[in-house]
Amino acid sequence: MACLIQLLTRSAESPTRLPWWAQTQRQCAGPTYNAAVTNPLDIDEKIKVTGGSVLKGEVGVLGAKNAVLKEMVAMLMAAGVHRLTNVPGILDVSLMGRVLDHIGASCEFEGHTLTVQVPDEINPEAPLDLVRAMRASIVVLGPLLARTGRARVAFPGGDDLGSRPIDWHLDSLRQMGAEFKLEHGVLTGWVDGRLKGATLDLEFPSVGATENSILAAVIADGVTTINNAAREPEIQDIAAQLNAMGAKVTGAGTHTITIEGVGALHPVEHHVIGDRLEAGTYAIAGAITGGEVTIRNCDPAHLRMELRKLEEVGCEIERGDDFFVIAGPKRAKAVDFATLPFPGFHTDMQPQMVALLATADGTSIVTENLYDSRFRYIGELMRMGADVTTEWQHAVVRGVPTLSGCPVLAFDIRAGAALVLAGLAADGFTTVGDISHIDRGYEDLVGKLASLGAQIERLAG
Ligand code: EPU
Repeated sequence: MACLIQLLTRSAESPTRLPWWAQTQRQCAGPTYNAAVTNPLDIDEKIKVTGGSVLKGEVGVLGAKNAVLKEMVAMLMAAGVHRLTNVPGILDVSLMGRVLDHIGASCEFEGHTLTVQVPDEINPEAPLDLVRAMRASIVVLGPLLARTGRARVAFPGGDDLGSRPIDWHLDSLRQMGAEFKLEHGVLTGWVDGRLKGATLDLEFPSVGATENSILAAVIADGVTTINNAAREPEIQDIAAQLNAMGAKVTGAGTHTITIEGVGALHPVEHHVIGDRLEAGTYAIAGAITGGEVTIRNCDPAHLRMELRKLEEVGCEIERGDDFFVIAGPKRAKAVDFATLPFPGFHTDMQPQMVALLATADGTSIVTENLYDSRFRYIGELMRMGADVTTEWQHAVVRGVPTLSGCPVLAFDIRAGAALVLAGLAADGFTTVGDISHIDRGYEDLVGKLASLGAQIERLAG
């Protein structure tokens, strides 16, 4: 049965602002689903933002993209009806819905609740069009091998952030007994009997390799220990979902995760953790406009280093259990920072922070340690008058008093968000193109910023 993902939840609040991709998903849903629409990222809509408004008010964030995508895959581990609540209506959720659809599950999305029916027999395959449209699809590899002993997954290439290999995913699964063959761009994996628990020493705390290993290990034979595991809050949330399903995962959120394999899992309902990257983006929207914004449904401890750096630039921050209030300075001060795995400064907040530092008083040095091509957006920021020099993984950002609005392009999710933020502080108006990238990770960025007082709108292509 075709995957039915109707990302229409916003229509109740803003009936005239239904984005194109929600309509696309509506058209693609049901029996007329068109598998030839491989990558719906080509629509030429734009965001127009006029600078100068001081943002004030409250905004709530939805569930974390980087948790929900893996939690959708985790559902494949048990036949039956699963439910995720607090699911954002973003393009990547609908793309992952298409992956699940291909594997044989059926999905329904309504009111931020995703219901997924997983059959007893699944098709252990993820084709190129879906893997190319969303790299995170590679996380199906471990679960498919664990559940069926086989997997055929298109080998993901690099993307706008860099080459992004998957060698650590494969090394871990090999140590658990899987074998792989790469032919004609397709990775075929198989295992003789069940995967076996193993001690995995990750070379680097990779988020995806940690997740693939956990998902493979939950129904493997024996105990798996992951040393040097990624400690991201999203991984803790995935472990919580798996434990509710009957798995035995301990230590998520620390460097050492232990998974005792169990015979079978069962479906559950799980509430997705708040999106710290969405929250951090609204925090910088408040900071860059010298406004005051309350951000709800996100634990500020998940943004510890990012908020500390925002305090160093002159923001005042009040922290609650699941909210924080940020008041921006008249003009930010320069600050140096380097991206690192959690609890370090998140690479997915780097472009937004650079947008803020572009108009700071002084020179900041930014070091990007996660990706080899994450500074591409800086050329667009420079079109707006930013004074930045990049060399290898360093950027020297010399703050200018003001940016100047102009047409720019979003190369990836966070780059797009950063350019919108820059537009909030720029003189005149900025149009951001290629905004389907923004829709991959933000539900209604435009509506939420407008609710805080931004002069912002979506323009049809
Ligand atoms: N890497 C390897 N080999 C591997 C795996 C990773 O060399 O086998 C390298 C990558 O190329 C990268 C670094 O290790 O340079 C970190 O990669 P990691 O595996 O930690 O990241 P990921 O799982 O591919 C997730 C998020 C990213 C986020 C990173 C880092 C999802 C769907 N994606 O990617 O999110 O930047 O962790 O925190 O969870 C975004 O949301 O905009 C986004 C890009």
